[in-house]
Amino acid sequence: MSAVDLEKLRMSGAGKAIAVLTSGGDAQGMNAAVRAVTRMGIYVGAKVFHINEGYEGLVEGGDCIQQASWLSVSNIIQLGGTIIGSARCKAFTTHEGRLSAAFNLVQHGITNLCVIGGDGSLTGANIFRKEWGGLLEELVKEEKITEDVAAKYSHLNIVGLVGSIDNDFCGTDMTIGTDSALHRIMEVIDAITTTAQSHQRTFVLEVMGRHCGYLALVSALASGADWLFIPECPPEDGWEDIMCTRLGESRSRGSRLNIIIIAEGAIDQNGEPITSNYVKELVVKRLGFDTRVTVLGHVQRGGTPSAFDRVLSSKMGMEAVIALMEATPRTPACVVSLSGNQSVRLPLMECVQVTKDVQKAMEEKKFEEAIQLRGRSFENNWNIYKLLAHQKPSEEKSNFSIAILNVGAPAAGMNAAVRSAVRIGISEGHKIYTVHDGFEGLAKGQINEVGWHDVAGWLGRGGSMLGTKRLMKECYSLLRHGNNMKNSVSSCVLSLLL
Ligand code: ADP
Ligand code: F6P
Repeated sequence: MSAVDLEKLRMSGAGKAIAVLTSGGDAQGMNAAVRAVTRMGIYVGAKVFHINEGYEGLVEGGDCIQQASWLSVSNIIQLGGTIIGSARCKAFTTHEGRLSAAFNLVQHGITNLCVIGGDGSLTGANIFRKEWGGLLEELVKEEKITEDVAAKYSHLNIVGLVGSIDNDFCGTDMTIGTDSALHRIMEVIDAITTTAQSHQRTFVLEVMGRHCGYLALVSALASGADWLFIPECPPEDGWEDIMCTRLGESRSRGSRLNIIIIAEGAIDQNGEPITSNYVKELVVKRLGFDTRVTVLGHVQRGGTPSAFDRVLSSKMGMEAVIALMEATPRTPACVVSLSGNQSVRLPLMECVQVTKDVQKAMEEKKFEEAIQLRGRSFENNWNIYKLLAHQKPSEEKSNFSIAILNVGAPAAGMNAAVRSAVRIGISEGHKIYTVHDGFEGLAKGQINEVGWHDVAGWLGRGGSMLGTKRLMKECYSLLRHGNNMKNSVSSCVLSLLL
């Protein structure tokens, strides 16, 4: 947003009141969102209220609704959880509860509400918004408010920010908290890997996600897990045999451990739960491997937010206030989403509907549809995981030979990029070579053909396993005058992209 656009917004909220609440399961980054809504609200000249303890506070009213100041959100951007509290509130799911909530908002002159929560919270917000007119009529009938007051506050603007580590809301690439939860999961996987390796153990790691496998999928992709269970893609019947064969093969090639990642809500083709203990017992019984289960639990939701979540929440909070300021009585309630790198507004009702459709598709065992409804990025992650986790026989050999080298300063992720390029190349039937020590190695002929398993375990390694060097003058001359590249190496891929 440009400085000019911001200047236009300044004081556009004079005479208006905005309330913000956090609801459902907490998520790292909620505080950054509350801070952004509060400060942007004050910037536009509105009164800003914090509603404590989610919908519970909205139904209760009284001290649960407090006016906020610029300073009341100081020093919170780095804190996990939510300083204004969150709750799962039964009362708000009832008509009486929502009537009381409407009364409390009118009492404070609030007609702009920002709800930060998961799909349940936003579903509740959507219902509240639809009922608003009828709730005010009831309050008039009960003589709790006058007709003039009902007319003055006849319209409630609602904007939702999706705060949930599960990344289970359709319409946004990322929800607030997901990135931090993934960081936490990766720390645990890296830690588990070291002990698993020492004892040659198999670990079954259960990650959160009652209905959504995003956390499990991305952590499996990022750790190169041997096997993955997610609710959207139950394993085909007979998976027990296939999984045990794969685990056994990986050990017989010299691997000292196996990592299996299972989403909390994993199911089989019949919709029956697949539990981490069932998987453990299976591995012990069939393969005799020493196997342990680790359930990560609420550690995933705790702790400080990542830089990504702090920035995402700040951008979304700011956009939420702008959306509230621009809303007219005809504007539908919206949700602020991330599309690519941009904050965009989408109709809340439609996003809630698509999110419900995913659940329905899973219940009806239409799993392909469920994956598609989760969105392109989910589907891509799933396809990449399947492609890189296990070697499939390549259909036919190609005539291409590809060399991969790292150049310049090493960067975290280079090894993952090389692993991926090697495996994708092999699965397409190409011959793949790696070059050691950048262009200097290329000039000197430090080139080896690599196989699928040569890059096993590279995902979690920092630096550059191939070795990388900044290009020196003498390398140019070596490359120009000495042609050490094997004839079969016809093209060269530089993994400079990271
Ligand atoms: P999340 O928002 O993290 O998905 P929940 O599903 O538990 O968490 O929802 C949080 C709260 O949102 C609930 O405790 C309830 O107060 C409210 N809520 C959820 N679904 C509805 C609904 N259908 N109608 C009204 N309120 C709802
Ligand atoms: O929705 C977020 C989430 O963390 C889920 O992944 C998990 O299943 C659930 O909340 C746990 O809820 P609670 O904190 O109420 O046990």
